[in-house]
Amino acid sequence: MSAEPIRTLPAWVYRSPDFYRAERRAIWTRHWLLVGHVSQLTKPGDYVSMRIAGEPIAVVVGADGELRGFSNVCRHRAARILDGAGNCGKAIRCPYHGWTYGLDGRLLAVPEKTGFPGFEREENGLWPVHVGVSAGFVFANLAPEPKPLDVALGPFAEWVAPYRPERLVSYDTGSSVLPINWKNSIDNFLEGYHVPVGHPGLLRLLDYKNYLVETSDANVSIARSPLRDKASHNRRERLYQRLMRPMPGLPSPESEQWNFVFAFPGTTVNLYPDQIDFWLNHPLDERRTLTIWKAFRPPETSGRRDRLVRKLNSGINHLVQEEDNELTERVQEGLESSRYRAGVIGARENGIKHFHDLIRAAIPAAAADDEVDGISALREAALA
Ligand code: FES
Ligand SMILES: [Fe+2]
Repeated sequence: MSAEPIRTLPAWVYRSPDFYRAERRAIWTRHWLLVGHVSQLTKPGDYVSMRIAGEPIAVVVGADGELRGFSNVCRHRAARILDGAGNCGKAIRCPYHGWTYGLDGRLLAVPEKTGFPGFEREENGLWPVHVGVSAGFVFANLAPEPKPLDVALGPFAEWVAPYRPERLVSYDTGSSVLPINWKNSIDNFLEGYHVPVGHPGLLRLLDYKNYLVETSDANVSIARSPLRDKASHNRRERLYQRLMRPMPGLPSPESEQWNFVFAFPGTTVNLYPDQIDFWLNHPLDERRTLTIWKAFRPPETSGRRDRLVRKLNSGINHLVQEEDNELTERVQEGLESSRYRAGVIGARENGIKHFHDLIRAAIPAAAADDEVDGISALREAALA
């Protein structure tokens, strides 16, 4: 008996506003989401904040040094309270009417409180959000009772630990909005099958034959690719090959590989021997994805050679990103076609299968190839 082909998610889930609403409820408010790095949260009042799939979230260091997560929404009239990242001092003050919350989320002060008859200050603290730290990365989860972080992330900490990420320092960051569905961006990240055609530079640097993706029973997968010994004919790549020194203490084989880690739903971490960076892929709606990245280096690598290697690395990888943006926009166009219902997944795309299985587990309607059937399944599950 011949094997059945392995199918991708259907095209409609990459363009449907109903499916995006379902994802917000069944995925983005239920899973652990990377929000920052421990180096951003060291003293009382330090905070990070971001809006993920429409949910404003903040993580704040308390006076007791504990990390606490909150819904970054004022209990008065819903203004977003904290912006970006920084230090908010001894209290969290809403910029609209000045309601003031403690670093533990309790509502401390309401200007002209007597004008709010029957209002109980004690019952109007910031809504708490679960927070956890894994391998130096800070995660938040909006679910009332989330799976423990280490269970959800399985081998994540072990994969990232050789780089000692908790001691790294951030040296660069950026963001952009891509005109594609967030899952299209993740699909692209999860396979190396497009390297030979889509990324001539990567093909010169990486040992494509041994570019292998390992999935897990948890929400994570990793692609590992050894670096090639053969010198590239491209000047920038050749210089990177010649000058790159693995970070101090990085063992083998990590010191000779580029590794790419995925944590469902939208976190990706690139592990290079010389630096690491994370990329967050957050949907703004069904056809726009906000990517936010942050790059980290060991604290002792601030010399000229290290700076040059980082510049070479980021030049190489920004070109890869541009190539990927062009490819994923092409895919988004095809996903809008009435003829294309779903595709097939090859052996080198096992990371995509793992990702699509997680989507189908969260939203069973994603198993329907037909949009009309899919949306009625969403309605039955009260998710649309
Ligand atoms: S909305 Fe925050 S104080 Fe009014
Ligand atoms: Fe790519």
